[in-house]
Amino acid sequence: MTIWTPQDDGHADLSSHDTFANGAPHNTFARLRRDDPLHWTEYEGGKNFWSVTRYEDITQMNKQADLFSSARGIRMEDQSYEEYLARRTFQETDPPEHSKVRMKLLKAFSKTTMAQYEEDIRTLCAEILDQALAKGTFDATKEIARQLPMRMLGRVVGLPDADLPWLVEKGDALIANTDPDFTSHVLDKMQTDEYRMMPFNSPAGAELYVYAKELMAEKERKGDTSGVLNLILEPAKDGSTITETEFRNFFCLLVAAGNDTTRYSIAAGIQALCHQPELLDQMQTGGAVWETAADEIIRWATPALYFRRTATRDVEMHGKTIREGDKLLYWFISANRDESQFEDPFRVDLMRSPNRHLSFGQFGPHVCLGMWLARLEVTVLFQELAKRIKSIEPAGPQKFLRSNFVGGIKELPVKVEAI
Ligand code: HEM
Repeated sequence: MTIWTPQDDGHADLSSHDTFANGAPHNTFARLRRDDPLHWTEYEGGKNFWSVTRYEDITQMNKQADLFSSARGIRMEDQSYEEYLARRTFQETDPPEHSKVRMKLLKAFSKTTMAQYEEDIRTLCAEILDQALAKGTFDATKEIARQLPMRMLGRVVGLPDADLPWLVEKGDALIANTDPDFTSHVLDKMQTDEYRMMPFNSPAGAELYVYAKELMAEKERKGDTSGVLNLILEPAKDGSTITETEFRNFFCLLVAAGNDTTRYSIAAGIQALCHQPELLDQMQTGGAVWETAADEIIRWATPALYFRRTATRDVEMHGKTIREGDKLLYWFISANRDESQFEDPFRVDLMRSPNRHLSFGQFGPHVCLGMWLARLEVTVLFQELAKRIKSIEPAGPQKFLRSNFVGGIKELPVKVEAI
């Protein structure tokens, strides 16, 4: 059975958030991969940009940070230099500057460190699932997928449990800043200039700024110097430190990145279970499937639809000239459905191996820091779900996020039969 059929006519406007409110426009991506892999895309809200859609091109370009830079913004929207400085984190810098900060965090997010959280995740999953499944029919995004990531991030970063619901709300307002269900300040619909120096142009950024400052003051009062937030404040090997603004932006990045992407991976996995019943059988058989399942679910989801780079000099590609200063969007969502890389890419194959998907921005210097945490959360959540249900099916139409940046099923009504 097909999990979901793309709705677009093959000529969708990739710069429009409305396009993505019906799910990703895969017919358009397929046409571009075939006929126009470096596509000059008109963008009414700002400077036009190149859309890069083939797996091989994105993989190669993402390794060339000197030529395709992150240091002029990583989203489609244009920024003045002043706004860039006010809003940037190390994610919006290039090596070697980027590596100095990233090095400080690597161990805290490593596979080994994350493995220590497995039992915590399992306990949380059991709690979340037992509550949700008792309802029989419910919205799986709200009752399951939305519950886990922030609670885990809270543990990893050291955030008080009582603050987590508020942080989820603020994280949503930041990252889903183009969806009226999540923010009253819809980025492309109203004047958000007042917040232009804040992460994601959002008032939620301002509130998180205050929160982060108070949190650190409280930690200092208690003499608590442990955790990721203190690590990033430590001097790098060459003695350099990050500024207060960069620190607060990093906090916003964690709240945003650690929240939605894992949620939408879980939601997409549940969507797949509803339409490919053999997946539940495979999960219940267990064993080797758990070595590959999370990556396939995260490929299928591709919650970070694209990240942007900017050309630092003129370069020829596919018979076209990319000019210095041109923006390029690496459409990971398209690369992850590229037929030349993935056999039967619209089918979820939990045993897919190798599975060199690009959902985490792999093979570039910015490859996701939270990937081991995300993989573990997805694995454990589905292990626990598979133990508890006989069947799962759709119970109404799914709704997608209105965003061309984060792809996600924001409403997923399901009906389950518990074991
Ligand atoms: C399935 C879940 C996730 C997906 C799909 C995802 C996706 C991504 C992608 C595509 C990038 C690369 C951005 C670029 O190329 O510019 C990235 C970077 C990053 N992610 Fe994730 N992410 C996920 C979960 C997380 C979690 C749970 C955290 C934090 C706990 C996190 C923190 C970060 C950070 C800090 C970076 C910046 C790394 C750098 O610039 O060196 N992510 N993520």
